[in-house]
Amino acid sequence: MKQPNDFHISIPRPFFFLFIFFLTLLQTLISSQSIHPFDSLTPAEYTQIQTTIRNLYPAAAFHYVGLDDPDKSAVLRWLSDPQSKPTPHRRAYAVVRTGTKSHDIVLDLDRNVVVSDNVYAGHGFPILTFAEQVASEELPKTYPPFIASMEKRGLLIDEVICGSFTVGWFGEETRRREVKLMCFYLNGTVNFYMRPIEGITIVVDLDEMRISGYRDRAVIPVPKADGKDYRESRQNPSFDNRFKSIATYQPDGPSFAINGSLVSWANWEFHVGFDMRAGPVISLASVYDHEQDTRRRVMYSGLISELFVPYMDLTEEWYYRAFLDNGEWGFGQSAVPLQPLRDCPENAVFLDGYFAFHDGTPTKIPNVFCLFERHAGDILWRHSEQAVGDLVTESRPDRTLVLRMVAAVANYDYIIDWEFKQTGSIKVTAGLSGLLAVRGSPYTNAGQINTEQYGKLLSENLLGAYHDHFLTFRLDVDVDGEANTFVRNELRTRRVNDGRSPRKSYWTVVGNPARRESEAKVRHGAAGELLVTNPNMKTKVGNAVAYKILPGFPPAGVLLEEDDYPQIRGSFTRYNVWVTPYNRSEKWAGGMYADRSHGEDGLAAWTAEDREIENRDIVVWYTMGVHHVPCAEDFPVMPTLSLGFELKPTNFFEYNPTLKYRPPAPASLNCTLSGSIKI
Ligand SMILES: *[C@@H]1O[C@H](CO)[C@@H](O)[C@H](O)[C@H]1NC(C)=O
Ligand SMILES: *[C@@H]1O[C@H](CO)[C@@H](O)[C@H](O)[C@H]1NC(C)=O
Ligand SMILES: *[C@@H]1O[C@H](CO)[C@@H](O)[C@H](O)[C@H]1NC(C)=O
Repeated sequence: MKQPNDFHISIPRPFFFLFIFFLTLLQTLISSQSIHPFDSLTPAEYTQIQTTIRNLYPAAAFHYVGLDDPDKSAVLRWLSDPQSKPTPHRRAYAVVRTGTKSHDIVLDLDRNVVVSDNVYAGHGFPILTFAEQVASEELPKTYPPFIASMEKRGLLIDEVICGSFTVGWFGEETRRREVKLMCFYLNGTVNFYMRPIEGITIVVDLDEMRISGYRDRAVIPVPKADGKDYRESRQNPSFDNRFKSIATYQPDGPSFAINGSLVSWANWEFHVGFDMRAGPVISLASVYDHEQDTRRRVMYSGLISELFVPYMDLTEEWYYRAFLDNGEWGFGQSAVPLQPLRDCPENAVFLDGYFAFHDGTPTKIPNVFCLFERHAGDILWRHSEQAVGDLVTESRPDRTLVLRMVAAVANYDYIIDWEFKQTGSIKVTAGLSGLLAVRGSPYTNAGQINTEQYGKLLSENLLGAYHDHFLTFRLDVDVDGEANTFVRNELRTRRVNDGRSPRKSYWTVVGNPARRESEAKVRHGAAGELLVTNPNMKTKVGNAVAYKILPGFPPAGVLLEEDDYPQIRGSFTRYNVWVTPYNRSEKWAGGMYADRSHGEDGLAAWTAEDREIENRDIVVWYTMGVHHVPCAEDFPVMPTLSLGFELKPTNFFEYNPTLKYRPPAPASLNCTLSGSIKI
């Protein structure tokens, strides 16, 4: 029997069900649209993973959680027909610690089951979590020998900040997860990295979270606080040279579109993902060929596989410092929110990223990426012709699309730009900024130093340590499909002595296709071109279509001896280029378990088999680097130094692909710009 108040509900009920039905349909549509095989794990998926793993291991610590790369053949099938079933598996890969064991866990997110769970038995440990870094850094403050050491130096314990540093491996048989702490003196500056408290070694056992070793060897003066601060408010007086304002203004909005994590702009389309280890992950980059009226594949996936930063200081508190920023610290986990108008221009759009905290909770990094059109006043191409009567001038302004992330790995800031060009090029730039790692020293003037040093005196009592930065990229380049060949085009000088020309010499190009991995290990230095070709696809005039790897900044090679322990762990930097056959599980060039690794996993080990790589699905590993001899201008904060490379189409198109582009319409500036424009 109906009651009046029932009546009230019964009238809208069919509509209510219809409403629920449409809501569900809408949700299905939204979720099925937004799930792309390369989409980063969502907060809901992180929570699902956390719950599933905590049901198995209530005290699990989450050291890595990321998308388990979908099967490539399934993705390619899906790409050719997105309606095809089954869609690629949505799986997650997690590394968790329970007690002293590292578990490798693969979860099927669609079916919510654990696919595999293996205890890792080899050498090395996973990425350190933020929580354990912070916990270890607090230990000295309540450790009586350390308190006594600070009293001896006349330093206030409340002004001390400690940092944790991974310790590498030097041939020992230990199975413990350890870090060493270096402490700094804050008193009067935020740039505590410039005020190291030298002479003290503190070892922390991370699994037991206690100080397991301590030695106070020597008292070395702490550099003064003066001149070390980099905050605007502390530059007193600051120079009175403020520029007039400037802005990049797009009154009609950006020329790119973002659908979920798929970006399309000009002739480009690509997917953007965020990974707590690698940072930005670019997938399925393809370029539209107007002439052929097709979308052509260029790169299946591109990411930073590992970084290697060895220091050259052999003192007791420093010798072990050779960091694998990706595998030890998590390059993505170290990313920081980008500051609008400072880190990215006015026309930037910002994207968020998520990673798993120590307890598995999804943690947001707001503004982890920015995406913007770069319009820097450069010329895309031009020509002026005076020989044809009236002057003919054709000129096109350049504009590119940039995806940016900044990782602040302790003292260093890495600015990573993936830049897409209308010409079909992908340019990758790593800008190095932030603070140098410096050592306290008794010297106050370079004139006092008459022995070989491990660094340069930058300021009183402060040496900037010599070091390297190497960044190794995993580039799964698919030029017009998977079957590719790596070709080294050598430029060879020829002597002319047969009288055919008054010239005595010229150079020509000799192509060397690499059949096996050993033939594709290249150190920079020799003149030539490095090409990924598709020998099965030819241009109209019969050249194999290709992309060239064009190094930027003078590329550095390894200077350490191969049998030196840090270099054994960093052996993937031995060559600037390696090429391997595609293998989904070969992803991290320095090995999956990089902390305290013994160099048994990674590129050097994988390529030992010397596998065939000709006319196959191949992966190019590209290392760029810099030997850093610090100088005064890098102090107290380093102006950005940029390294980079470009993947550049080479006989990929039939002619300049930007020839038929129309120049952009001029922006109308007679608008809301608060009267700042006066022409
Ligand atoms: C967005 O991408 C999905 C695939 O991830 C596709 O199905 C959909 O049609 C795209 N939407 C638009 C508006 O392009
Ligand atoms: C800390 O900084 C203050 C202010 O500059 C200074 O007076 C004091 O001596 C410093 N303390 C130590 C122990 O260096
Ligand atoms: C893929 O790489 C892993 C690690 O190097 C290796 O164990 C495995 O055999 C490889 N798989 C194939 C199909 O070559």
